[in-house]
Amino acid sequence: MEKLADHIIFIGFMGSGKSTVSRRLARFENMNCIDMDTYIEREANMKIPEIFKLEGEAGFREREWAFLCSMIARERSILSCGGGVVTNDSSRELLGQLGCVVYLKVDAAEAVSRISRPETRPLLSGEIPPAELLASRLKYYEQAADITIDTNGKTLYQVVTAVQKALRKEGKL
Ligand code: S3P
Repeated sequence: MEKLADHIIFIGFMGSGKSTVSRRLARFENMNCIDMDTYIEREANMKIPEIFKLEGEAGFREREWAFLCSMIARERSILSCGGGVVTNDSSRELLGQLGCVVYLKVDAAEAVSRISRPETRPLLSGEIPPAELLASRLKYYEQAADITIDTNGKTLYQVVTAVQKALRKEGKL
């Protein structure tokens, strides 16, 4: 696969800890950290629920794709992606070309218990229960992942340490 950049990219379901783990790792490794949801909200000048309402999920996925494209020319960074980015075929393919993809694995029940402001995630209050949504995405996460870290029952520190160890082994840190 042709590599277009050398980022460290976190994927995983809502509540898997992508944003927190990314920030912590960036601090430890003295790297730049970019959060996809925050970037999209700034660019759109709208909050995510508003984007979903006005542009639908398809519009939001387009914005995710545009975000990933804009990362080709960026300095090496840690990217924290939105949980559904892997559902779009073009985005999923591009993820692999943007660097090393780290999948933070979590069970639906633990994910939901970790989310403090569910109203900020439109798909959590949608028709599909979280466990079903996660099940429908598992194959995509697995397909996209270079490294998989199981986060169930682990503390933030344990997860970050496991990520560092795995990335070092791959020569990515
Ligand atoms: C989504 C996850 C959210 C956000 C949006 C859609 C999803 O990001 O991008 O609400 O489809 O799973 P987090 O995974 O950071 O919560």
